[in-house]
Amino acid sequence: MGKIIVTGASGHLGTAAIHHLIDLGVQVGDIVGVVRDKAKASALAELGVELRLGDYDNAASLPAAFEGGEKLLFVSASSMDNTLRVRQHATVVEAARDAGIQHIAYTSFAFAEKMSIGLENVHLATEYAIRTTGIAYTFLRNGFYLDLLVNETTPGVIAGGTVVTAAPTGKLNYVTRDNLARAAAVVLTQDGHANQTYELTSPQPFSYDEYASVLSEVSGKSVSHQALPAPEAVSALVSAGVPEGGAGFMIHVVDTAIESGQFSSPSNDLTTLIGDAYTPLKSAVEAVVKG
Ligand SMILES: NC(=O)c1ccc[n+]([C@@H]2O[C@H](COP(=O)([O-])OP(=O)(O)OC[C@H]3O[C@@H](n4cnc5c(N)ncnc54)[C@H](OP(=O)(O)O)[C@@H]3O)[C@@H](O)[C@H]2O)c1
Repeated sequence: MGKIIVTGASGHLGTAAIHHLIDLGVQVGDIVGVVRDKAKASALAELGVELRLGDYDNAASLPAAFEGGEKLLFVSASSMDNTLRVRQHATVVEAARDAGIQHIAYTSFAFAEKMSIGLENVHLATEYAIRTTGIAYTFLRNGFYLDLLVNETTPGVIAGGTVVTAAPTGKLNYVTRDNLARAAAVVLTQDGHANQTYELTSPQPFSYDEYASVLSEVSGKSVSHQALPAPEAVSALVSAGVPEGGAGFMIHVVDTAIESGQFSSPSNDLTTLIGDAYTPLKSAVEAVVKG
């Protein structure tokens, strides 16, 4: 077998996917991590993973990065400039084609055709770019990360007793980033995933009311959900220490989309791929609250 090349290997998803590849039995010597800065992925190098330099903004860096690759886990770029990302992604796709990659697994966006928050344009454009190559693909249409909600700030939210949002009833199909990394590794290590599109979301989307209930149940403290008009919700988050730009995006863009039902679609694709490794909401909350 040729090598499995993982881009974004210095990032959260790429690093986790490499750990899952190793866990699923791939030899460390068959994995290449592509990074912009090798120092940021030194822990992978210590495991024996070969690191190569590659920058989506520098097409000349990619032939050497992709050389000898059979499969590519293409992790989408992290720029906030979606127009730039389309160009970066086209550069990666062209380089993968020219390097003779035989299968591209791409981190796309769940239910992209149903979304209207802007990010879907990057991912649909990239899916179409990949289709132009004729290379076998798997579109890993990742749901929003549950980690955006359940993280090191969660104990503070519990202590404050209130989850403040602008989405009174809408549902969230978020899943953990680690589960998405596992799904990517599964797809890269099994046959049968060529030319498939997977909607990697929760099979059981939850409302913020239900989320607050889970926080109460796990912590033993009373936590309620308070849905406010968007400007007041942004102010409340900023007062709680959330940076203004992030608070504005989460309330005006994400909560508005949640309330309009854009994040409410369930799918069994993730649980089908990763089985018992799936992390339901309550388990994710337990992990950050109880350690
Ligand atoms: N589903 C979600 O909720 C969600 C949330 C956030 C982001 N995303 C998307 O999913 C991707 C992976 O998530 P993540 O948590 O792993 O993000 P992350 O930790 O920020 O990692 C992003 C990775 O992409 C690399 N990268 C960015 N621009 C690049 C370029 N021009 N050339 C080469 N590599 C580049 C970064 O390299 P450096 O280390 O050098 O910066 C890093 O390794 C993100 O990049 C973003 O497209 C999804």
